[in-house]
Amino acid sequence: MKKAFYLTTAIDYANGSPHLGHAYEKILADVIIRTKKLNGMPTHFVTGLDEHGQKVQQGADKEGILPKERCDRIAQEFKNLLVTLNISNDDYIRTTEPRHKNVVSSLLQDLFNRGEIYQAEYKGFYSTRAEQFLQEKDKVNGKWPEIYGDVTEITESNYFFKLSKYQDWLIKFLEESDDFIVPSFRKNQVIEFLREPLNDLCISRPKERLAWGIPLPFDKNYVTYVWFDALVNYVTAAGYGNEEFKDLWPADLHVIGKDILAPPHAVYWPIMLKASNLPLPKQILAHGWWMSSGEKMSKSTGEVVDPLSLVEQRGVDAFRYFVMREMTVGQDADFSLERFESRYKTDLGNDLGNLVSRLFHMTATYEKGVVPKVELNEEFEQKIKTNFEAAKEKALEHFNAFQFNQGLEQIFIFIRSINKYADERTPWKLAKSDLSEDRQKLKTCLGVMVESLRLAIQMIAPVMPGVHEKVNQLFGLPACENWKTALEWDFRLEGKTLGEKIILFPRD
Ligand code: MSP
Repeated sequence: MKKAFYLTTAIDYANGSPHLGHAYEKILADVIIRTKKLNGMPTHFVTGLDEHGQKVQQGADKEGILPKERCDRIAQEFKNLLVTLNISNDDYIRTTEPRHKNVVSSLLQDLFNRGEIYQAEYKGFYSTRAEQFLQEKDKVNGKWPEIYGDVTEITESNYFFKLSKYQDWLIKFLEESDDFIVPSFRKNQVIEFLREPLNDLCISRPKERLAWGIPLPFDKNYVTYVWFDALVNYVTAAGYGNEEFKDLWPADLHVIGKDILAPPHAVYWPIMLKASNLPLPKQILAHGWWMSSGEKMSKSTGEVVDPLSLVEQRGVDAFRYFVMREMTVGQDADFSLERFESRYKTDLGNDLGNLVSRLFHMTATYEKGVVPKVELNEEFEQKIKTNFEAAKEKALEHFNAFQFNQGLEQIFIFIRSINKYADERTPWKLAKSDLSEDRQKLKTCLGVMVESLRLAIQMIAPVMPGVHEKVNQLFGLPACENWKTALEWDFRLEGKTLGEKIILFPRD
């Protein structure tokens, strides 16, 4: 059996409600996985929730409820968002699940048995108010900022994972790999980060300070550091310890944000796997941030418009289109309502929506809804076929390289060319003529437009699965499963009766 393309996203923190950043990442991952499927690959797509750690415990304490209770509620919010956004994940992993706790324990025990984890004294500045260790660099003008309250130097016994031992191996691995990290400029940042000597990683927290975590299997007085716990989700969800593990691991792609590339995903994670004798993931894609007035967007409130409210107002496909069209994967993008409205009106309303409604209307009025046979093959028709072939080649190439904004641009250039073809052929004028030559031209024009629209609609499927399904239904087609067979210019709808015209992107 062919190994499934295994794709994961970051697992979101269970310490607040979902926002645009979370939504974007899941949509990006979903578009990638749908693209893989359409290219004929078996796939497995996992996302989930990161539930342990101090912030989660503090949040629950504030509400006067148990951390698990708070996590259950937040998990439901995040899961609802996945449904709303039409995300096609196969699994949802929560780090409080027994399957995950078992895997974390077993990996830790194995590393401990083989001397990769050791106990040592840790000396440092500790803020009781913030409940965290501080470093010299946290001082402002030589003083600890007010927010930390009393800061004292304490010595604590903890467990450490031997990161430093693997530093040279990791640098060599990164330098030799071409595409482990995408975009490639981020790899240089990681290598830059590794120029400084790595400290071993403190992977324990004393239970009296933090109870909400996975106990260390070899010392019940401690829980596991939340990043060690969270990263392991990727192997848990692949079925570590079970038969199916070899069918899924290594992961083909981890999709994450740039803030969690180094050190967690590009340093801790490869070393954790190497030390555990497990293969490394094939690739990490680090996307950029959605910004608003120069700041990272990270709340669902406080912004003038909550971007997620646009999903309800304008529909999920318009939202998915916007985020994929506006962001160059890997770079930051500014969120603006004006840009959203402009894309909605222009690309979606005027170009795609208008094409769909005028074409179904004309076919119903001039041909009783039956797709006519194409009889001519003049320059007009040849040109539009050439446009399609060019759009297909470029769009698929861009999609495979995660350049979805450019891929969509190509598809919309093609969509606009279909409208232009209609404007040049003027089927509404041809329909008024009695000349048999004009009847032929009319039939050809409608047939060519139907075929062109069918092909455009198959190409937008990963980004706008809802629009894709709706229009395919009007064509009498099932949802497209494979681009290889679907993206052939072959007039397969000839003689078929179409459904009734619809308005895809209503104006208010
Ligand atoms: N829990 C960790 C990830 C553990 S993965 C083993 C975490 N959670 S998070 O909720 O803070 O972020 C989840 C993802 O959302 C991250 O990949 C992060 O980069 C992404 N985003 C959060 N805000 C974002 C934007 N404003 N824009 C785009 N994505 C950003 O980190």
